[in-house]
Amino acid sequence: MSAEAPTIPLLTPYKLGNFNLSHRVVLAPLTRQRSYGNVPQPRAILYYSQRTSKGGLLISESNSVSDTAQGYPDTPGIWTKEQVEAWKPIVDAVHDKGGIFFCQLGHYGRVSNTGYQPNGQAPISSTDKLLSPQIRSNGIDVAHFTTPRRLRTDEIPLIVNDYRLAARNAIEAVVVTGCYSYLRYFDTYHHVGFDGLEIHGAHGYLIEQFMKDKVNDRMDNYGGSLENRCRFALEVVEAVANEIGAERVGVKLSPFSDYGEAGDSNPKALGLHMVESLNKYDIAYCHMAEPRMKTVADKVECPDSLLPMRKAFKNTFLVVGGYDREAGNKAIAENCADLVVYGRLFLANPDLPRRFELNAPLNKYNRETFYTSDPIIGYTDYLFLETTT
Ligand SMILES: Cc1cc2nc3c(=O)[nH]c(=O)nc-3n(C[C@H](O)[C@H](O)[C@H](O)COP(=O)(O)O)c2cc1C
Repeated sequence: MSAEAPTIPLLTPYKLGNFNLSHRVVLAPLTRQRSYGNVPQPRAILYYSQRTSKGGLLISESNSVSDTAQGYPDTPGIWTKEQVEAWKPIVDAVHDKGGIFFCQLGHYGRVSNTGYQPNGQAPISSTDKLLSPQIRSNGIDVAHFTTPRRLRTDEIPLIVNDYRLAARNAIEAVVVTGCYSYLRYFDTYHHVGFDGLEIHGAHGYLIEQFMKDKVNDRMDNYGGSLENRCRFALEVVEAVANEIGAERVGVKLSPFSDYGEAGDSNPKALGLHMVESLNKYDIAYCHMAEPRMKTVADKVECPDSLLPMRKAFKNTFLVVGGYDREAGNKAIAENCADLVVYGRLFLANPDLPRRFELNAPLNKYNRETFYTSDPIIGYTDYLFLETTT
């Protein structure tokens, strides 16, 4: 950042575990549906490197952990060799510009339909309750679902293992294939790939389908009590942390959200139980959606706060949802968060940290092109400050 502008809280350095961040403006995980055939495309090299700043943290769009994990068209995965190879140049480009890049791992669970599933089978979930059609976060598209198949208790470890294998793949995306063990013991190797993983435990997808009591209707060890409902999430965290090291693991949670009909009767207790449990694993960060974001797109007035979770979590705390420059600065200045994650503003302003530094006007985002598959329009054609002034 240049010396002429006064330093604002968002642009102060921060140490995230072993990573030295130069500022606190984080790129949110943003599904863009431009990974044709579920394989990341070369155009993503430009998209991500546009949004990279030296010492800035980026979180990738959600990557499906297996062929049962998908739910939307052309979202990337990280379970095949081809997908792993396709991520490498994207990760390299971010590293070339000095960025720190975490890969988000997800499983849509029942937020899917037979069209996205292997052999046209039913999507899997904690439940067999059908989700009604949902308006997507662009406020335009409506997604339709198929009645899910409730996972048997003995199948759950297999899904946990899918996360573990995907985590290994993401790390193989970062090191020379076959030299995976070097990553843990010789850190010098990590610069050739993803620096860490974020487990997507938010927004009504599979992990929330277990955590939230409005969805989970299981009678086994994965249903009923709060501890039981959080068991799957924590087993995933443990498996991934054991695979790549807890210091490279983050988790995204949205205890207060209602996305995908996945609400909870006591979100504060859920949020607190999760952060207290995550403390035991000593993971790098917890990334939490603001209670005002009941859905991805709508900000509502809400008396709830993330502060109890922020205070209870011992490592780095990221907040997301409806932040602008002023609210982000306030959150850092008042110690409500360590890092502030920006979704739609970063999508439309590739140089967002620079614009915040200069207090420059922002490009407006266009919801209509959030999920259109054009490799340029609404993807890599948002202008930089230098080109707009
Ligand atoms: C187009 C779009 C795609 C998104 N994709 C993801 C995703 O893949 N994973 C995720 O955790 N959140 C996803 N989100 C949610 C954002 O990460 C973020 O939490 C949300 O946009 C609120 O932040 P904002 O108000 O700064 O936009 C998406 C949001 C949008 C608008």
